[in-house]
Formats: sequence, C-alpha cells, structure tokens
Amino acid sequence: MTVAYKVLDQKDLGTSLETKEVFALDVLHGLSQTPKTISSKYFYDDKGSKYFQRITELEEYYLTRCEYEILNTYKNVISDYMNTCEFNLIELGAGDGKKTNILIEHFLQNNLRFNYVPIDISEAAMSWLTNSLKQKFPKLSMYGLVSEYFNAIKWLGKSSNKRNLVLFLGSNIGNFSKGNSKVFLRSLWNSLNDGDYVLIGFDLKKDINLLLNAYNDSEGITKEFNINLLKRINQELKGNFDISKFQFFANYNVSSGAIESYLLSTEKQQVLIEHIGQVFSFKAWEPIHTEYSYKYLQLDIESLANETGFLIENQFYDSKKYFTDSIWKVCKHA
Ligand code: AVI
Repeated sequence: MTVAYKVLDQKDLGTSLETKEVFALDVLHGLSQTPKTISSKYFYDDKGSKYFQRITELEEYYLTRCEYEILNTYKNVISDYMNTCEFNLIELGAGDGKKTNILIEHFLQNNLRFNYVPIDISEAAMSWLTNSLKQKFPKLSMYGLVSEYFNAIKWLGKSSNKRNLVLFLGSNIGNFSKGNSKVFLRSLWNSLNDGDYVLIGFDLKKDINLLLNAYNDSEGITKEFNINLLKRINQELKGNFDISKFQFFANYNVSSGAIESYLLSTEKQQVLIEHIGQVFSFKAWEPIHTEYSYKYLQLDIESLANETGFLIENQFYDSKKYFTDSIWKVCKHA
C-alpha cells in the first residue's frame, strides 16, 4: 500500500534534536517546576490516540457529538466559502478524521477541487486515517503530515500558494493556555495568505456539572488517558513510575475558565527516569499538572480573532449551544 503521509523529521524542520531527546528535555523541565507539569501534547502516542478516540465516543463527552451536529447542519454554508477555486483542506490534529469525513464527503459530492492535508502527532493515527479515507474516497487527493502543530505550520508556510481552509476542530484550541493560543493563532496567520479561512472549534462555558462529567467519565477512560503519560515515560525514557501510586483528578477552575487535569502522587516517593539520569522526589499528594481544557464565551472568541488578525465570518452552534465552530478569514490589509 502506498504511504499517503510524511513524517516531518529534523531535516524538514532544521533542528538537530531527536524527538526522544525533545521529550526527555520537556519532561526534565516540567518535573523540575512547581507545580510539576507534563505537556498534554505527550498524551498522543499510539495508545493515547486510541484512548482519546474512545473518549470521543463517551456519552458524557458531549463535545464530539455537538460538533458532528454543527458540521452536518452547516456543511453547505461552509462549502460556499470555498467553491470558487482549488484549495488545500488542512486539518490540524486530525485524529480519526471522523468529523472531517462529513465535510470531505460533502465537498466531493459538490465537485469542489481540493487537496486534503491531515496533520497529526501520532503516526499510527495518521496511517489508520489515510488508509481508511483512501478506501472510502478513492478519488480524494490527500497527503498527510505526522508532526506537531507549530512545526507543521512552519512547513506549510513554505509549501503551497493555493487558497487554504484550515480546520482546527474538537476544541483543540482549548488545550493551549490563553497566551499560547494567541501565539499559535498568530503563527498560523503568518503562514497563511490574505483571504484564507480557518474553522475553529470552541467549547463554550456552560453548567459546571456537564463540564465535570465530561472529564470524569464513568468508565474511567479519561483517567487511563492521563495515566498513559506515565506509562509512556516508563517505556520511552526508562522511568520507574509506580502507576498504582498516582490518582487522576480533574476539576473546573472558575477563575481561569478551564478544566484542569492532574495526576496526584498518593504518597511520598521517588521516581527515577534513567534516560534523563535523574531522580524526581514527590511529596504526598503532590500534583503533576497534565492538561488545560479552556472553555470560552462568545466575547473571548471575538477578542482572540481581533488580537490575532482574523475576521469572524460566521459562527455555527449546535442546538444546545454547548459548542461552536467559528469560521475566520485571514485579513492582512486592515
Ligand atoms: C483534544 N482535547 C480538545 C480534549 C479536551 O477536551 O481537552 C482532550 C481531552 N482531555 C480529556 N478528555 C479529552
């Protein structure tokens, strides 16, 4: 079977560090901070991507169903923005691509001319996605990139002069701190051309119980998703985390407007990570922060677009108004 994706490596990125070294440095940096922290981008190894896929199928995790509803309801309106010329449909954090299937199918049925560029950090997820899309849509022109967002954006900036529609769905933006979401969107703006579009999924502020249930699911998949981070460190960096001595905890911070996720050390303990060559000491009940999932108000979305050089063209909601996909235009001459 032909490979329909590329793994961005050091040569493409002009950096000299191996992925594993970057992981080790990030873990060293994160576990040396107070509070200790590990970036949520490391959730998504092959196992983590599968856990996340299971999360999206959970009853309590309303976000995915809301976005399905939005894309199904507004696929016509979205395709109207792109029906004048050939374009790249670029998806950041494509995952299993199930939501994007809705747009791809609709665009193909309406004879839109486009090239699909899924981008994901997990090679296993990319391999699965590109193979399944090839089977479902044999005529789809597609070339995926295995990379994290910032590197992919850098690469894309140099690579095409076609019109672009960038999808950043699923509330992935919510995993950036407020500061980093601005840096990210401005970098994206820099690598795009005037008149390009981005479609961004934002999870909206709502009843706190709904939020808490979504991140404390009854099947414990979100817990496994978090614990997998420690397993990954054990495997890839020769750590000796005793998984049974860590407890998952997710709470909503009403001041910052984010679900904050942690792994708590249930007792005083020391953990050796051989590949880093360091022992890390944990006090009893000391947290490792693992993830922010920011929730938005309409007002926050407007400020974010304004501050990063985009014009909001349209805003689509699900029937419960839990979630929104917002379509923004790149504006370089304001
Ligand atoms: C990928 N991201 C938007 C998810 C979220 O809701 O923050 C990741 C996730 N974490 C726990 N459950 C799902």
